[in-house]
Amino acid sequence: MRPVWIKNAAQLVTIAGENGPRRQEQMSELSIIQDGSVWMENGEILAIGTTSELEVLYGKRAHEADVVDASGRLVTPGLVDPHTHVAYGGSREKEFEMRLEGSTYMEIMNAGGGIHATTRMTREATEDELVAQTTRRLDSFLAHGVTTVEGKSGYGLDLETELKQLRAMKRLNETHPIDLVPTFMGGHAVPQEYKGSEEQYIDLLVNDMLPKVAEEGLAVFNDVFCEVGVFTPEQSERILEAGKKLGLIPKIHADEIESYGGAELAAKVGAISAEHLLKASDEGVRLMAESGVIACLLPATALYLREEAAKGRAMIDAGVAVAISTDCNPGSSPTTSMPLVMNLACISMRLTPAEALVAATMNAACAIGMEEKVGSLEVGKQADVVMWNVSNYQELQYLFGVNHVNIVWKKGVQVMG
Ligand code: NIG
Ligand code: FE
Repeated sequence: MRPVWIKNAAQLVTIAGENGPRRQEQMSELSIIQDGSVWMENGEILAIGTTSELEVLYGKRAHEADVVDASGRLVTPGLVDPHTHVAYGGSREKEFEMRLEGSTYMEIMNAGGGIHATTRMTREATEDELVAQTTRRLDSFLAHGVTTVEGKSGYGLDLETELKQLRAMKRLNETHPIDLVPTFMGGHAVPQEYKGSEEQYIDLLVNDMLPKVAEEGLAVFNDVFCEVGVFTPEQSERILEAGKKLGLIPKIHADEIESYGGAELAAKVGAISAEHLLKASDEGVRLMAESGVIACLLPATALYLREEAAKGRAMIDAGVAVAISTDCNPGSSPTTSMPLVMNLACISMRLTPAEALVAATMNAACAIGMEEKVGSLEVGKQADVVMWNVSNYQELQYLFGVNHVNIVWKKGVQVMG
């Protein structure tokens, strides 16, 4: 593998600093190098600095490398998407129309659509079909400058299909350039066959599914949809505590549709992150700040459901580390565009462009335990790098709805452009 030498970047945004969640004013510190340069070799960043600094260090080895002229362009870390439901079967465009005609997300789900519809289609798909469908979506992530993606199961809601989804993701992590970090989410919904006997489904989850997932090493995190009409805070706590005993780190879909104590529960169980949080209470936000739970905010979902976005600005001001994500899923957010999400974070949650970029890189990496490898450009970290057809990070977010990716490198290999 030939080294890659990027030179003359108009703006090289490194986000260098501590490999940990950035809060408050730290979320505005981008560590920008003008006329920036990066040398990547063997999948890692070997040197980073100004072009003249790297000329001194590596000028003699220029003939060995693929030299890339980044004049006039922005270079950033590969974006990180810390919350997706990317490995699913089928599609739900009909529900899109139903919602435009007035049905709500929960009405559709309670009538057997929504998560239940995708569960049926995912149960019907073979593992190979899931791999093929998900490959197309991961390719689309890469095309939008996203090099690390979290993926949840939760469209099986039975042991066999949950394992099929997680095994498909394992194969993709091994074969696709993207790092795909797996989360078990058997607690995504109570399957229709358990309607009226919810506790029995939770028994199955706790006694059979979680131990099997942990034994096969198929997931790092355990997530639950704590929502009115789905899992109560008490049921959610039981599921998350059972996962913790098996080494699975808690995550929680919290306070998305109604204020339900999800943020408070995230703090109580020591979740690495709490997701959505559209209706999180002020006390819940305070507790998250105090206990270091990362808020993973999903403004594309809010837009798609025509809900008011989470209070991202207030959360940052309250000391919560904020990450952002597409929530890529077939119902409430069928997108793979993190640049769009960064723009929406600015427009609908009043983050600054600098905060949105940190939320989509370092804080996103922290929300999935990947901060030692990705999320910033520093010597020794993975060479996940994006060169954009804009000259600065504000322009990246200001010119919205357009894909500005020029070249994407994953572990030092050009995978796009
Ligand atoms: O994060 N809120 C619950 N789960 C997903 C949606 C899943 C679906 O509609 O298929 C979410 O938005
Ligand atoms: Fe989700």
